[in-house]
Amino acid sequence: MTNAAPTTSFSDPSHAASAVIGLQWGDEGKGKLVDLLAKGHDAVVRYNGGANAGHSVVVRGERYSLHLVPSGILYPGKIAVIGNGVVVDPWKLIEELDGLAKRGVDTSGLVISSRAHAVLPYHKTEDALREDLLKRVGSERVPSGPDRPDAPAPVSEIGTTRRGIGPAYADKVQRASAVRMGDLSRPETLRDRIDVALTLKRPLLNAYGSGEILATDALVAQCSDVGARLAPMIKDTTYLLHGLLAQGKRVLFEGANGSLLDVDHGTYPYVTGSTCIAAGIGPGTGVPASRLGRVLGVMKAYSTRVGAGPMPTELADAVGELIRQRGREYGTTTGRPRRVGWLDLVAVKYAAMINGATGLVLTMLDVLSGMGEIKVCTAYEMGEKRTNEFPADAYELAKAKPVYESLAGFAQDLGACRRFADLPESARRYVEFIEGYVGVRAEVVSVGPDREQTIQR
Ligand code: GDP
Ligand code: IMO
Ligand code: MG
Repeated sequence: MTNAAPTTSFSDPSHAASAVIGLQWGDEGKGKLVDLLAKGHDAVVRYNGGANAGHSVVVRGERYSLHLVPSGILYPGKIAVIGNGVVVDPWKLIEELDGLAKRGVDTSGLVISSRAHAVLPYHKTEDALREDLLKRVGSERVPSGPDRPDAPAPVSEIGTTRRGIGPAYADKVQRASAVRMGDLSRPETLRDRIDVALTLKRPLLNAYGSGEILATDALVAQCSDVGARLAPMIKDTTYLLHGLLAQGKRVLFEGANGSLLDVDHGTYPYVTGSTCIAAGIGPGTGVPASRLGRVLGVMKAYSTRVGAGPMPTELADAVGELIRQRGREYGTTTGRPRRVGWLDLVAVKYAAMINGATGLVLTMLDVLSGMGEIKVCTAYEMGEKRTNEFPADAYELAKAKPVYESLAGFAQDLGACRRFADLPESARRYVEFIEGYVGVRAEVVSVGPDREQTIQR
């Protein structure tokens, strides 16, 4: 059974459109919150990313991992939209839909934008070849020498999910080499689109040393199959969404990845290929920013990161390992152990600012139980200078040394707390410290993965 009633609907009729955005490097618990909020909304909409996302929802102990399908799907009768800003791997999507159907989830509410770009098999090949090449040259290149002590470390692999995300977004911008979901379900133009795409792609992949033969006929046949299967779901979602809003229906936007992985505002170049912040909703769905009333910024009570790139508060010690084990910090998509560190409030405050967060959602507070002290980073030391500003790229961030404040820990298990007053005093102080620093109220505190393990303030 997937439609168990949560403790609250979180309904807030004053806003037609709300957004849930990750304020860190992803995996903040967006899926859990979107699932909870979905009950009070008519449609849930993804606007960015692709199958690099892994959003977990736990309903009465049963875990669902969603990658392309919006997390609202577990409530029957909801419209679930994959917006034009998403890059869709049609095979992964079908696999996900079949998996959900096997578990009794009704996925008939799913609609896919005809403008969304398709991730084709060669995008994954290209992603992997680029990563392997970067890894090789990164280890061969000479790092900064004694004559250039401030020189940035050589760029190594990004540590992508190898799901073809970067190459698919690059092709979208390149235009001629792209195939959109609307093309897949239009047999009369599919061959032409794929033919042009492969004409441009073959020399590139050969140069990267790919042994894969990209045969037009075979790919057209594969794409026709998935196109036929998905055709009933592929529509103009821009008019659909505007029609819903005009009827007074409530729409929830589900951010994927995280603000610090945003292609412009994140720790570039160690980022993903899309606009993850709330501003991505406009280009990623056709719904203008002015329609958005509420932006909920989801953040963990500590930090995690998957893949390469700087993370000033990273803990490569027993405390980090303890948090990893307690928080089950292993990637939902790739199974990689997540890098773990203390909460970085400089980063979170920056993310709240660029998203215009109207409320915070603090997750994983239960994971910190048993820590004698909890550290939070409130500033960076950059050489001689101390700053509260998040640097503009990875090279600058790599120089940041965290300045910590120490707060009292708590010993109690928080999993059964349902009201803010149920939390031990030091846990409440921790939440209030975060609110005070970021300047945004924590509207929800999550104390476990299950729907019920949620405190609304
Ligand atoms: P997302 O990508 O932001 O949706 O987050 P993920 O689903 O990838 O990772 C969050 C993980 O934490 C999942 O395994 C969730 O089930 C789990 N989770 C969410 N909220 C909480 C919480 O408050 N406490 C604990 N212990 N786990 C949580
Ligand atoms: P959710 O939605 C955590 C990271 C990858 C890598 C970088 C680029 O579950 O929070 P990509 O495959 O996108 O080109 O990889 O971004 N990354 C994520 N990390 N959660 C995610 O999504 C992520 N999506 C991408 O690990 O470092
Ligand atoms: Mg995730």
